[in-house]
Amino acid sequence: MLKNLNRFQEALCKREQAGTLRTLKPKAEGIDFYSNDYLGLAKNKELQDLLVKKINENPQLLSGSTGSRLISGNSRVAAFTEKCIAEKHQFSSALLFPSGYNANLALFSTLPDRHDTIIVDEQIHRSVHDACKMSNARKLKFRHNDIEDLENILKRQEKHCYIAIESLYSMEGDLAPIREIAGLAKQYEADLIVDEAHAFGVFGNGLVDQYHLQDQVTANVITYGKALGAHGAAILCNDSIKSYLVNFASPFIYTTSAQDFQWMSIKTGYDFLEEHQEFPAQLHENIKIFRSQGLESPSSENSPVQAIIIPDNKKLKSLQERLSEEGFLTYAIYSPTVKEGTERLRICLHSFNTEEEIVKLTEIIKGFI
Ligand SMILES: Cc1ncc(COP(=O)(O)O)c(C=O)c1O
Repeated sequence: MLKNLNRFQEALCKREQAGTLRTLKPKAEGIDFYSNDYLGLAKNKELQDLLVKKINENPQLLSGSTGSRLISGNSRVAAFTEKCIAEKHQFSSALLFPSGYNANLALFSTLPDRHDTIIVDEQIHRSVHDACKMSNARKLKFRHNDIEDLENILKRQEKHCYIAIESLYSMEGDLAPIREIAGLAKQYEADLIVDEAHAFGVFGNGLVDQYHLQDQVTANVITYGKALGAHGAAILCNDSIKSYLVNFASPFIYTTSAQDFQWMSIKTGYDFLEEHQEFPAQLHENIKIFRSQGLESPSSENSPVQAIIIPDNKKLKSLQERLSEEGFLTYAIYSPTVKEGTERLRICLHSFNTEEEIVKLTEIIKGFI
């Protein structure tokens, strides 16, 4: 124990000296350019009132589920929500999870086995890497969004391959060439898995839906903690894969199901969003305003995440501090989290940011470049 304690302390000391020690701080007050609440639904009063009304009508929604969904924890609310989600996304099945992290853990630790290879985009979310560690499959990486590199890797594989991508990457703020990758998956008979954590709600029901790729995607991961302002996730797939996950996915089986409130708030969120398309429309207006300010960014022009490269940790830190003094909440990503020379300020745009706020934010940034 003492030996490990020393190791823990050393690791923490190193982080402290490097200025990268993480601590839990109270939620900051300020103008939000850093949260994933792209459409402002997490603080939408009308949606909150709807949820409160449903709880008042059925307080049981707030109670614990009492067990795994395979024992006492299943419910009509969970099954109904899954049915509605599958229909909305035009997949034959949906399986709910308490978070996107859990969904990815279940998917990648269960579907691929030792006879398979998982080929991941180098920028794929940490949950996929963690899941790969739980799987007996071999993991390979391809260069970010580089379809030539992906094809070169696919060509050399003798084992069956799974390809893991996101449709919108949250650090770079760029879109995947999803149709081209789907084409490669078909050509090389690989299974394509697309995580739409950041695209769902911003681009309708996600890019798989917008490009009608349901038949070319083995599993589509949708998360509800970002644009929907709720919490949880669904894996969209066919009936056999759902059944396989229900039978073999440890992160699904060996855990108490979430409360019905979580599933109900997801279903309510879908309905609310369908009736309030003004929120994504306003978000895209704000993205246009930001892009028209002339800042250089590697992000896609219609992405709610806009990365501004400030290639120097010190300069980046003082920019973020200056922004914070002016009341702007942003997120800075330092090296070695990203490669040296690509340190960046990550700006999340929202439907509720005003033009004045966006212009002022960009003016301050311009003063630092
Ligand atoms: C691409 C991606 N996938 C999965 C997750 C995990 O989702 P959740 O926050 O619901 O656990 C995230 C969240 O950061 C994400 O960005």
